[in-house]
Amino acid sequence: MRLDVVTIFPEYLEPLNVSLVGKARARGRLDVHVHDLRDWTYDRHNTVDDTPYGGGPGMVMKTEPWGDALDTLLADGYEAGHTGPALVVPTPSGRPFTQELAVELSERPWLVFTPARYEGIDRRVVDEYATRMPVYEVSIGDYVLAGGEAAVLVVTEAVARLLPGVLGNAESHRDDSFAPGAMANLLEGPVYTKPPEWRGRDIPDVLLSGHHGKIARWRRDEALRRTTANRPDLIERCDPAAFDKKDREMLSILGWEPEPDGRFWRRVKAVEE
Ligand code: ADE
Repeated sequence: MRLDVVTIFPEYLEPLNVSLVGKARARGRLDVHVHDLRDWTYDRHNTVDDTPYGGGPGMVMKTEPWGDALDTLLADGYEAGHTGPALVVPTPSGRPFTQELAVELSERPWLVFTPARYEGIDRRVVDEYATRMPVYEVSIGDYVLAGGEAAVLVVTEAVARLLPGVLGNAESHRDDSFAPGAMANLLEGPVYTKPPEWRGRDIPDVLLSGHHGKIARWRRDEALRRTTANRPDLIERCDPAAFDKKDREMLSILGWEPEPDGRFWRRVKAVEE
């Protein structure tokens, strides 16, 4: 997969050289190109922003540097034999970035990221490139960052670990919380490793039992416990058919019951943690 990032802070993307994404690059699974937007400015001050039409606070990123930067990197990529670019525009006004979208992006051959600073990029830039390629405007959460670079790191890491040969174990993301197609989207429960006792704290006996069925059930119960506590919305959204008899028992213990029509589960009482 080819990745291009255009930014006024190329050094912000340094983490793309380390850890999982760095390894994916070293293994040739990811071909990353970071570009400095100011290379496409031609005035003494390397200006990339200007005041907004219609007034208001803040500054808006100018069309020309973005257009010239994107034209250049697209031409370079095509010349190197790449095809099928998609534009990924990080913005708090975008659609929520989810595991499902990470999977969709991981299936594309070429992603071009346009992290903005200030109040964002002149809209005509997105409108222009949307006539040539798919555009994904994505938000990584309901908060406002100072710029889109951190969002690029988030999206890149979520996408890179899905590429074949990057995690090493093709099974490892099948059980991810939020994995699309999972029976129910539950959060993963707690995990433990050696030593078996630490500061007087043991690990749950069942994990030492060697009984795979019991261990799977315990993990499922812990997932239900965590999901009801931290993300009740995920339980409410679940198709009740996703819950087996044991799940239903656990949900009852956790203070949940089905609606009379059986279509949803809802919390009916608070449970002491
Ligand atoms: N830029 C600023 N805030 C952002 C957010 N929440 N998601 C994506 N890009 C952003």
